[in-house]
Amino acid sequence: MTGTRTLREVPAQSQSSETLDPRNWDDIRALGHRMLDDMLDYAADIRDRPVWRPIPDEVRARFHSALPRQPSDPGEVYREFSDFIVPYATGNVHPGFMGWVHGGGTAVGMLAEMLAAGLNANLGGRDHIPIEVERQVVEWTRSMLGFPKGASGLFVTGTSMANLMAVLVARTSALGQSVRKRGIGDEGASLTAYTSRAAHGCITKAMDFAGFGSNALRCIEVDGLHRIDVAALRARIALDRNAGLKPFLVVGSAGTVDIGAIDDLRALSALCREERLWFHVDGAYGALGILSPMLAPRLAGIENADSIALDFHKWGQVPYDAGLLIVRDGDRHRDTFSAPAAYLRRETRGLAAGSAWPCDLGPDLSRGFRALKAWFTLKTYGTEKLGAIITRTCALAGYLEARVLAEPRLELLAPVQLNIVCFRYRAADANRVNGDIVIDIQESGIAAPSTTLLDGRLAIRAAIVNHRTDTRDIDALIAAVLDFGARRSSSSGGVRVLNLEQSPLLAM
Ligand SMILES: Cc1ncc(COP(=O)(O)O)c(C=O)c1O
Repeated sequence: MTGTRTLREVPAQSQSSETLDPRNWDDIRALGHRMLDDMLDYAADIRDRPVWRPIPDEVRARFHSALPRQPSDPGEVYREFSDFIVPYATGNVHPGFMGWVHGGGTAVGMLAEMLAAGLNANLGGRDHIPIEVERQVVEWTRSMLGFPKGASGLFVTGTSMANLMAVLVARTSALGQSVRKRGIGDEGASLTAYTSRAAHGCITKAMDFAGFGSNALRCIEVDGLHRIDVAALRARIALDRNAGLKPFLVVGSAGTVDIGAIDDLRALSALCREERLWFHVDGAYGALGILSPMLAPRLAGIENADSIALDFHKWGQVPYDAGLLIVRDGDRHRDTFSAPAAYLRRETRGLAAGSAWPCDLGPDLSRGFRALKAWFTLKTYGTEKLGAIITRTCALAGYLEARVLAEPRLELLAPVQLNIVCFRYRAADANRVNGDIVIDIQESGIAAPSTTLLDGRLAIRAAIVNHRTDTRDIDALIAAVLDFGARRSSSSGGVRVLNLEQSPLLAM
């Protein structure tokens, strides 16, 4: 038995048949072509599918099987993928997906992802062109956001990670590089950071992970448009200074998650300069609004930030995941993350050249080639087209807003500023009814809005991010809300979930 042999007794590989490469490349080629055709059809015919469907117990149970010790035919594995994974995906490729903030992806992005997997490049470091591709996309991002030369950036999973890294760079900037050895200590315990009440929860988590604790984050009041109240921020900073605390960081939002508010970034940057605070912008989806001539003026001041987090996988339509952190002063960025190691020795020539390496800019050593799909997307469509898509999603939000305002059974719950519309069906017990409506719509497969709470009122939240969404999808959402709303408010009991094939709404 193999398990009882010593290593010396195991025959060294002598034939290619003992590798993981296919015995017959023609077979895998045919399978690959079929997969490619199927996934292109998936996107091309996406409107024929429900946006999302509930996962039957039997299907879920298939993914609790035992560890596969023996090989399977890849065609069989692919059949499982087709039958049990594809139908139960999140649904954000579909134009009816309007929940949370999910991009729709593109065929080009998908193909780029395949090419990246083919190269299997590790972008932690060393001297190879995939890293230059990443540097190129960072450079394009730098120029679109108006950062100076010398800025540095890095692809990461998403803005949650990019925000955490920004807090760490701000921490090093405030406490010096020695914080990396001795921890935040007593001095760090008196540091305080500021953001708005409407900011994303990952900023609170970032403060926790960075060792400050979430109590060190002050969540400042917002105005009627959900923008940070700059006067209240200024007052809180003064209060904290008087109490002996040391303000060090302000996080502005370029597109809040609830309703898409953009803070007054110009006022924030001026305040930060005056108070000598690190100014970070959470631009998860809003920062790419800079590509839309209509939205760009509203982001004025973003170019003065010390760091910006953004996601290409949202409004940029790049397939998941493709977050990015960009830092104005590349030295501070490197000071936060670079760490020498004998096994990562840099050279001036050969494969170990090309320092600084991406691993000097973030926590990851092994990193995939995320940049390729962003590079393909930017080159294929160009920033004008991508900007036009962003503008159009906002116009669609305006269309949805108008439909809500014209319908007496519906109520708008927040001003529409970007691409997010929060509204509800008027009903007694409105929070319960609207929560049920959203689940009913998701289960029907017609659309996939999500919910949020605004001043205690549960909102149906539609974030129009997907480039495929058009007025048909908005009309279908409204019709579904009215239909399910009427049923939910006329009966306190259950509602028969619409069978997709029978739904008259799908004909819209
Ligand atoms: C404003 C904002 N910040 C941060 C995030 C977190 O980004 P990610 O999901 O890419 O980590 C989101 C996600 O929607 C967001 O809208």
